[in-house]
Amino acid sequence: MIAIIGGSGLNNLSALEQVSEKWVDTPYSEGGVLVTQGHLPGVELPVCFLPRHGKGHVLPPHRINYRANLYALHELGVRAVLAVNAVGGITSATGPGAIVIPDQVIDYTWGREHTFFDGSDSGLSSPDKFSQTVAHVDMTNPYDELLRTLLQDASVNLRHPVVTQAVYGATQGPRLETPAEIKRLAQDGCDIVGMTGMPEAALARELGMAYASLALSVNWAAGISQEEITMEAIHRVLEEGMAVIEQLLLVAVQR
Ligand code: HPA
Repeated sequence: MIAIIGGSGLNNLSALEQVSEKWVDTPYSEGGVLVTQGHLPGVELPVCFLPRHGKGHVLPPHRINYRANLYALHELGVRAVLAVNAVGGITSATGPGAIVIPDQVIDYTWGREHTFFDGSDSGLSSPDKFSQTVAHVDMTNPYDELLRTLLQDASVNLRHPVVTQAVYGATQGPRLETPAEIKRLAQDGCDIVGMTGMPEAALARELGMAYASLALSVNWAAGISQEEITMEAIHRVLEEGMAVIEQLLLVAVQR
């Protein structure tokens, strides 16, 4: 089964039909995780939808319970995740409105619960289903190539240009970066910057789920353009861009 994780600007999937909501208990969360399940037109299997920031967009990026979210999806039988992320653009092809399918990631986040394998055998951090307490998953290809191809093919079908190779720099937030920080990210090779790409991708890998990101650039990263970054401008780009992202997801899942 496939799941879509929605980010800023994508709090539900408008094409989803016969929708039901499920609370999924996890060892990582009090009260469980709310996941929406439903059917997309032309898709046989049900599709799960999980708004990363919680219902009503209440959780900032550093407070999201990434472990609980991914564990809940895995519990429901999800084995492929398409994650939607709003990002800032650093390199010329990734300006506001650009849709980007990253192929690499650099993790600058800190203090987040970022692994299911933290070496402890306390009930919470080491649920029974993980037989190991230590594991080092391979992140040579942090995003699943089949899912990336699926997204690229869907974009060709839609005749919407996408940037098909990019390095995602994951920052802690919730503040935006300083121009000096963005300069450093650019020197490191980052093309886009966002606050939610990690540890999500790594946790999906730890659970053996295929994972890819569909990123929408909603602003030039700090210092790249002379223009001030305003939430107003970001919301304008989000609204238009997420409509395209929804279409793209639908075509991808129908394939
Ligand atoms: N930086 C970090 N995260 C973001 C940005 C940004 O400029 N825009 C949207 N998410």
